[in-house]
Amino acid sequence: MGLYADQILPRAINLALRGSEFAGPRARAAAGLDGEVLEIGFGSGLNIPYYPAGLKRVQAVDPAAAGRKLAAGRAAGCAVSIEYVGSDAEALPVPDASVDHVLSTWTLCTIPDAMLALAEIRRVLRPGGAFRFVEHGLAPDPGVARLQQRLTPLQRRAFGGCHLNRPIDQLVAAAGLELTQMDTYYMKGPRALGYTFEGVAVRP
Ligand SMILES: C[S@@+](CC[C@H](N)C(=O)[O-])C[C@H]1O[C@@H](n2cnc3c(N)ncnc32)[C@H](O)[C@@H]1O
Repeated sequence: MGLYADQILPRAINLALRGSEFAGPRARAAAGLDGEVLEIGFGSGLNIPYYPAGLKRVQAVDPAAAGRKLAAGRAAGCAVSIEYVGSDAEALPVPDASVDHVLSTWTLCTIPDAMLALAEIRRVLRPGGAFRFVEHGLAPDPGVARLQQRLTPLQRRAFGGCHLNRPIDQLVAAAGLELTQMDTYYMKGPRALGYTFEGVAVRP
């Protein structure tokens, strides 16, 4: 990883994603967590304040070193045990069917091969376990979608590989996870950046 991706971008993301508009989606995604949890794209630990008290353990996966430093303060004040287990959601170093929930917020946009990561998520979830996510992606409005297709090459270069044009609900379903809850909406701000998929998908 270069200096920009490893050190500068994680700090910028920490500032950009800690706003109050993200609090509601984070709280809803974390509210149903219990037992063994794996969080991909753990970043600077912005979901830590929303972990329910009953969690056994959170296994964290993220490649960025600066994110870990930024997360340390939040983790120190948290009663839940947090353990870094790896850096790449495309190859999770976790046994099959070993976790109750996988959490991902604003991360599937950035992982180079999102389908590979989703296959890994399905593999590590126990049957009946749930993938809980908040992600931005491809909007249904043709004008916004066209802009997203045009902007994605630039967005990828500027923001560590972030795609604006991933149809998150379709990818999750294509991975063999059953969507049991799905809300979509535009967050405040530019519509091309803010079309949001907030959902729960269960491993059959
Ligand atoms: C936009 S940030 C979101 C961070 C955090 N989930 C949040 O909600 O604040 C995307 C995160 O995905 C991480 N990431 C990038 N590639 C990844 C990969 N292959 N596996 C896991 N995480 C990855 C980045 O380092 C970054 O922390």
